Amino acid sequence: MATDIHELLNSLTLKEKIGQLQQLPPFLYIADLKNEVYGTVRDLGITEEDVFLSGSVLGIRNASEMIDVQKAYLKRSRHQIPLVIMADIIHGYETIFPIPLAMAASFDPEVARKAARIAAIEAQTAGIHVSFAPMADVSRDPRWGRVMEGSGEDVCLAKAFAKATVEGFQHDGIEKIGNMASCVKHFAGYGKVQAGRDYHAVEMSMNEWYNTYLPPYEAALKAGARLVMAAFNTFNGVPASISPFLMRETLRDRLLFDGVTITDYDSLQQVIAHGAAYDQRDAARLGMTAGIDIEMGSATYVKYLESLITEGVIDESLLDQAVLRILELKRDLGLFENPFKGADLDAEKALVRSEAHLQAAEKLAETASVLLRNDNHALPFMTHDTVALIGPYARSRSTNGGWSWHGDIEHNETLEEALIRHKATISLVSDADNKEALSDHDKTMIKAADVVVLAIGEHWRDSGEARSKSMIALDEGQIELVRFAKTVSKRVVVVLYGGRPLVLDDIVLADAVLMTWFLGSRASSVIARTLLGNISPSGKLPMTFPKNNGQIPIHYDHLNTGRPNLRDGNPYVTQYIDVQNEPLYPFGYGLTYADIVIKDLQVDREIMAKGDVLHIDLTLQNNSDVTSEDVVQIYVRDVVSLPVRPVKEMKAFKRVKLSGHQSVVVGFDLGPEAFSYVAENGHVILDSGLFEIHAGMDSQKTIKRLIEMR
Ligand code: NOJ
Repeated sequence: MATDIHELLNSLTLKEKIGQLQQLPPFLYIADLKNEVYGTVRDLGITEEDVFLSGSVLGIRNASEMIDVQKAYLKRSRHQIPLVIMADIIHGYETIFPIPLAMAASFDPEVARKAARIAAIEAQTAGIHVSFAPMADVSRDPRWGRVMEGSGEDVCLAKAFAKATVEGFQHDGIEKIGNMASCVKHFAGYGKVQAGRDYHAVEMSMNEWYNTYLPPYEAALKAGARLVMAAFNTFNGVPASISPFLMRETLRDRLLFDGVTITDYDSLQQVIAHGAAYDQRDAARLGMTAGIDIEMGSATYVKYLESLITEGVIDESLLDQAVLRILELKRDLGLFENPFKGADLDAEKALVRSEAHLQAAEKLAETASVLLRNDNHALPFMTHDTVALIGPYARSRSTNGGWSWHGDIEHNETLEEALIRHKATISLVSDADNKEALSDHDKTMIKAADVVVLAIGEHWRDSGEARSKSMIALDEGQIELVRFAKTVSKRVVVVLYGGRPLVLDDIVLADAVLMTWFLGSRASSVIARTLLGNISPSGKLPMTFPKNNGQIPIHYDHLNTGRPNLRDGNPYVTQYIDVQNEPLYPFGYGLTYADIVIKDLQVDREIMAKGDVLHIDLTLQNNSDVTSEDVVQIYVRDVVSLPVRPVKEMKAFKRVKLSGHQSVVVGFDLGPEAFSYVAENGHVILDSGLFEIHAGMDSQKTIKRLIEMR
């Protein structure tokens, strides 16, 4: 019989109820607390008794650790409520998929769904029940290191990927083995930290909130995400973890979310540093009042909630609601029936990093690379072409990227190994990351090679949490390497690794530039096959690549201004005097080895009634003999509106495969939500008047039709 959580709640003491709100690291349950980890427990200010009253765990290494922790806990627990295990399973468990930003570059939400499915299947064998993903923070500032964890700058793309990720983790129900509960984060607006500096303040208008930043979280919740993590930042002056506007008015009242909320690491205690509370007791009061259920990384609830309640400052019903939500999650996960749910040493052996999962990791990475340039068909090259392979990533196994803590890079192939396995003819390999590191022999070989491949880019540790940069350029040494290669070779190919958009500088001197991000366990094989033409690259930029650092933040769906730059010589227009407004590469951009164009764009009506669905047909034509996938994108502009609307907003996209010289007709349906927006008061508005419908293979070069909404 299913556990009656109300009855269970009533059987708990005040201290036991408060314990459910505490999340702790796993080692606390299995170490000798007095001798070994006294420091950690002392720093948190809790007792050994508190450890064994806590409700959840952050991070587990494997099945046997989970079993040890749960056993040790239950042995000392009066109420026998199991711990729920949570962890950051961001882009794979041990089989690592492309970083989330790279998955977004595929413009194929199925990639995220399948990656999350396999991640859940593997992580569940370690008894991990909740994944701290997806990160649904729209991010438009590439200086922010955490752009690698999300889907980039666009609302439509971020919504689709947030939804697919949640559905991938939770699949056909969190009660089933092999599925996990998904925790969407970081609520809210974390992607807009000022100047791209991690943990910094977030200030935004309600116009931006409702139309840009809120929708992806909302999409994750609509898909059924069971938890929400609060962000580190202040949101319009209030730390997100204690914000009644975010945690109550928006989450509970507007979005009707009834799942569990959790702080980010230590973020409840951090409200003191923010200047929102004098002490931990005050922080606990503010957190409970705002509606934060689980406290991660600090322990203000455990220490102060009891007195806050007994002294009448906090109503016990608030605590009861939080505990009920946590018990409900544990019940729905099936933990009362099986506290060790999922943890299974045999399944671990059979499933984790299985060949089938690794093959899926390879398949899912095939559409993520973005071909930024390809002059004179520098790519692909042939197996008989001699290749000089140079750069820090030539022999590197560091292709997993950040947030892949269960993934071991030692299993990964290097690019050199993969190229050889795929029959490329390598004449020179060097790890040099600047010109000075090349010997005279190297230089001679570079000159003699048919193709020079420079495997360069950012260090994988340069993106992720606490990895903000003020300049997103590459090392001067690497740029110099490109300049040098270009002076001695006619065919220079840059394979660019990175967790964010980069300022390319003279990297664009190269004949071809392939942005490969961090593609995971099978990255090198996918890159080798792409260089050799076995795969046609078909990823699209999920974030704009600026020309220089000063253009940041830059995104395609900006407002027009009263003085748009018409390039007619008038200087009193919105522009810089030292750089153009246009980025180096816009959102949605990416070449293929084919030549696929939009030939014709048709709408099924020029006059629409509100509530109508607009049907669009367009013809894609492949003018080459190369088979390739490509991504067609549909943008809408509300021509006249108050508040004014962006020059273009993506509303739909489709990945299509065309064989050589094939033409296909692709259809889209745009319902009312594609034409509406949310006003500052939170109400949805659908304007009458003119709308432009754009279709393009990127956000800039589009063809358009005009329709009228009546
Ligand atoms: C801090 C990060 O901001 C968050 O994304 C992560 O889930 C938690 N730490 C737990 O590791």
